[in-house]
Amino acid sequence: MIIVSGTASEVLGIKVAREMQKTKSKIEIKRFPDGEKYVRVLDPVAGEEVAVIQSFYRTPDEFLFEYFLIVDALKGSDAKRIIAVFPYFAYARQDERFKPGEALSLESVIKLIESVGTNEVYTIDMHLHRVADIGKAFGIPAYNLSAVPEIARYIKRNFELKEPAVLGPDEESEQWARVAAKELGANYDILEKKRLSAEKIEIKPRSLEVKGKDVVLIDDMISTGGTLAEAIKIIRKEGARRVIAACSHAVLVENAYTRIFEAGADYLVSTDTVPSPVSYVSVAGLIADALRNRLAKRKGG
Ligand code: R5P
Repeated sequence: MIIVSGTASEVLGIKVAREMQKTKSKIEIKRFPDGEKYVRVLDPVAGEEVAVIQSFYRTPDEFLFEYFLIVDALKGSDAKRIIAVFPYFAYARQDERFKPGEALSLESVIKLIESVGTNEVYTIDMHLHRVADIGKAFGIPAYNLSAVPEIARYIKRNFELKEPAVLGPDEESEQWARVAAKELGANYDILEKKRLSAEKIEIKPRSLEVKGKDVVLIDDMISTGGTLAEAIKIIRKEGARRVIAACSHAVLVENAYTRIFEAGADYLVSTDTVPSPVSYVSVAGLIADALRNRLAKRKGG
């Protein structure tokens, strides 16, 4: 298998290739003076299975479109099979037409990914709320991996947790809170969140038992930081000893990073699906394992 990456996941691509004892194959990606992107495959890929690693953060449209050009370049160079690895998959939030007239973004993006000739998809902690199974959303084989066990193990190794408790900031985060709690040998609970707009949310406190505890607050992603900041304020008010905020995707738009600490977090831990100052946990091993296991399955091993 050949490993390549788009510009959004250059370093992660190198790490995945290294985990698989390979060297990442070269792709030239540059811009024409008018802003159009140019993509050229530089290493031979004919007859090969190629894993393309590309996250869709901060400028998701750009990186999505770049992915399409990479696939075109690979197919034009006779690659046999395209295995897409989207560590952070944008556009998953709009998985329903909530208001009349809205675009169903997730479905459109999936159609585009399939139409360019992608054969298989891997994502990590995709924002699956109303769509329970990514395999059903795609018409091609698609798998959602989770970085949460690795995040929890990192927290266990690096913070001497005293009376740990795990919290999710909203109903949907139950899936991540449950897994983290299991790894940490702790209890978990979730808060009640109401989204008023893309930037404004309201979180209702519950009868939380966090006094004197080390609280691990976990969510799939931090965008504006509003969700976690509100949750952190409540946890602090209830007398937690320390608050360790964690997420798989630290998209961290605008002042999200500052906002989390201003709200009272002691630490913030994330992965490198989105490169950030808090990408302490690498998902390279998780991706490499998935690609290796897939090869083993195909070989009948
Ligand atoms: C929402 O359901 C997600 O799981 C996150 O809680 C949300 O996307 C985070 O966004 P923000 O950081 O802007 O509150």
